[in-house]
Amino acid sequence: MRRIARLSVAGSFAVGSVVFAGGGLVDGMSAPKDGSTGDTTSAGGGLISFGDPIPGLTAEQLALFEAGKVFFDEVQEDDMGLGPVFNKDSCVGCHSLPVSGGAGTIVVTRFARFVGKGEFDPMAEYGGSLGQGSAINEDCLEDIDFIFDQVGVPEESRIVINRLTPPMFGSGLIEAIPDETILALADPDDADGDGISGKAHIVFDAWEQTERVGRFGWKAQVATLDTFSADAGLNELGITNILFGEENDPNGILPASLDDCDMVADPEDVPDDDGVSKFNLIAAFQRFLAPPQRLPLLNARGFVRFRQIGCADCHTPIMFTGDHEIAALSNKPVFLFSDLLLHDMGTLGDEIEDGDATGTEMRTAPLWGLRERPNLLHDGRAGAIP
Ligand code: HEC
Ligand code: HEC
Repeated sequence: MRRIARLSVAGSFAVGSVVFAGGGLVDGMSAPKDGSTGDTTSAGGGLISFGDPIPGLTAEQLALFEAGKVFFDEVQEDDMGLGPVFNKDSCVGCHSLPVSGGAGTIVVTRFARFVGKGEFDPMAEYGGSLGQGSAINEDCLEDIDFIFDQVGVPEESRIVINRLTPPMFGSGLIEAIPDETILALADPDDADGDGISGKAHIVFDAWEQTERVGRFGWKAQVATLDTFSADAGLNELGITNILFGEENDPNGILPASLDDCDMVADPEDVPDDDGVSKFNLIAAFQRFLAPPQRLPLLNARGFVRFRQIGCADCHTPIMFTGDHEIAALSNKPVFLFSDLLLHDMGTLGDEIEDGDATGTEMRTAPLWGLRERPNLLHDGRAGAIP
């Protein structure tokens, strides 16, 4: 019998009106060479809606976008490889606001503990640090922690935190920002003395098989959409693939027969004759999702103030993509309002160490599209600005 445990939902808040429209006014920043403002219009010339493909894609790229969306929305069944443990049975099950590929109110749980002299332990042998609250068979369910009253969290945990589902609109543009651009913004030791240190998160990318500057996830722990999609396939859905081929072992303690917990041989997401896996198509869908449409700036003073008080010191209003084989992503302005760096946020940190990110370091969250976000910050603790 399948056992679906409840997943936490961040407190629900009224959806706020326009937050940082960010329109036109980016003084002191050089305009893109092609003179475009970065304002997006759909193929039909109208405004871009959330969920639309990025303008200027070829027919072939549009076909990849559509094919990837089918898999992003597809509900995984036990005989397709779901589980043994999982959090939801589809990507859109979490990433749905206001459409597929968006943010969500669902939070996932990370657990960990400290060992020895305060050394961080992600509890990998217990299936950590990400918890999975569901299993295709009740016997395969992860432990229940009675202290934290949470399924999927072993009792030995000492840190239990939530992470909110972020949106992927415009993520192909973020992916196409060259590593050097982000590295040029980094100032890990605050050499310029402005009181702000920012660190690029260098990670080994499983898809590209090389070191890259991470930019996705609350800790900038992943560099490419293919790697994130393969990772989410395994860790959120329990679908193994060529990058992550080993199932999450519930509790790290093999049940009597793992076959009862998972019916499909690994890898479950098998590449086709051209070497394309489902996770590649899912990545293409996200890569081609248009960025949030920029709305007219309602209050220019707000943007001036935003810069005056230093928000823009981390929330960099604009960056540019580099040369890219996909013309629609090549040398484009990206109005993301983030430097994609890790900052020491003190008690706003989530205590989880991830690669080179310490427990207090978090990635500057991009601010575009906030108008569609019911809750904010990594654990969803804050409501949208009304
Ligand atoms: C159970 C809810 C859930 C499911 C299911 C889920 N995600 Fe996510 N997703 C999240 C959360 C939470 C994060 C933030 C994770 C973090 O940073 O630790 C995230 C982050 C991401 C990011 C990084 C976005 C950014 O800009 O930082 C990508 C890309 C992503 N997910 C893709 C996927 C794909 C593809 C699937 C399906 C294979 C999927 N997710 C399934 C909850 C979910
Ligand atoms: C030192 C760098 C820094 C400065 C300065 C800064 N922020 Fe942030 N901001 C961050 C980081 C890092 C996060 C992610 C926090 C988290 O993970 O919970 C964030 C998150 C946010 C979010 C939540 C976005 C989301 O997706 O949940 C908003 C809104 C925001 N900042 C607005 C502002 C405003 C307004 C200012 C100026 C008053 C400001 N920030 C100044 C680094 C900064």
